[in-house]
Amino acid sequence: MPTLNAITTADYQRFKNFLEQSCGILLGEGKDYLIVSRMTKLLREEQISSYSELLTAIERGHPRHLRDAVIDAMTTNETSWFRDQSPFEILAKEVLPTMDSEGKLQCRIWSSACSSGQEPYTVSIAVSEHLASFPASRLADTQIMATDISASMLLEAEQATYDEGILGRGLSVARKQQFFRQVDDHWTVVDDIKRRVSFKQQNLLMNYGSLGKFDLIFCRNVLIYFSPERKSDILNRMAQAMNPRAYLFLGASETITGYSDAFEMIRSPHGVYYRLKS
Ligand SMILES: C[S@@+](CC[C@H](N)C(=O)[O-])C[C@H]1O[C@@H](n2cnc3c(N)ncnc32)[C@H](O)[C@@H]1O
Repeated sequence: MPTLNAITTADYQRFKNFLEQSCGILLGEGKDYLIVSRMTKLLREEQISSYSELLTAIERGHPRHLRDAVIDAMTTNETSWFRDQSPFEILAKEVLPTMDSEGKLQCRIWSSACSSGQEPYTVSIAVSEHLASFPASRLADTQIMATDISASMLLEAEQATYDEGILGRGLSVARKQQFFRQVDDHWTVVDDIKRRVSFKQQNLLMNYGSLGKFDLIFCRNVLIYFSPERKSDILNRMAQAMNPRAYLFLGASETITGYSDAFEMIRSPHGVYYRLKS
């Protein structure tokens, strides 16, 4: 088998084009080491002997699983419970109380790059805590739609079962005891938290028409991988998938400034978030 330690300039360009067109991820120059380190195992497993053979297969989309496996391997799935804290404080202290005071009866939330599920389950925990603190709240029917491009991440998320190490990333012992039950050496999200969350595969580059309208969208730590044009397109299409005056949460290092004027920025003591302009 020829060496897989290097990728030619032409194949690097093809790989880069494939990634940008299929999932929006921009691979900068000089990232060949990343392709080599993330593809070597897959090439061996699939008995593919060169990058050009791999590229020919994924460009024509056959076999389908290969295309998905390459996207899976090249995307970053880093996530944690209550990641960055600030959005969940804003949710608990500002957004849910405001929805209550505005008399909202049905709340639909979209976790649009949900990875292995920590984000949508964290949102569901925050909703349960809100309902426990405010029994008169009418947000009991809140629904959370969790989507990701990665089928393997969605499978993990749907299983809702995590090991101790993963739970330790952002979850307090009290929340672990309250919202998870132990099964052997793993922990499963309790049904009360799980039942609000549904999962669906969705590429953010594609149409959102089938998802319905949302009152709050989490689009966190995914826009950073996309070009300015893609960011702008995604944010403007998300605005169209929102109910009037819906909320938008981005990742800590992300902004809408320069990409969309559909939202107003809200600076609060708990952090920055966005609301659809009326
Ligand atoms: C770094 S994780 C962020 C997870 C979570 N939102 C958070 O902030 O913790 C990025 C996720 O974006 C997903 N992703 C990458 N490109 C995507 C695309 N074009 N459409 C939908 N999801 C995508 C990846 O599969 C990955 O699960």
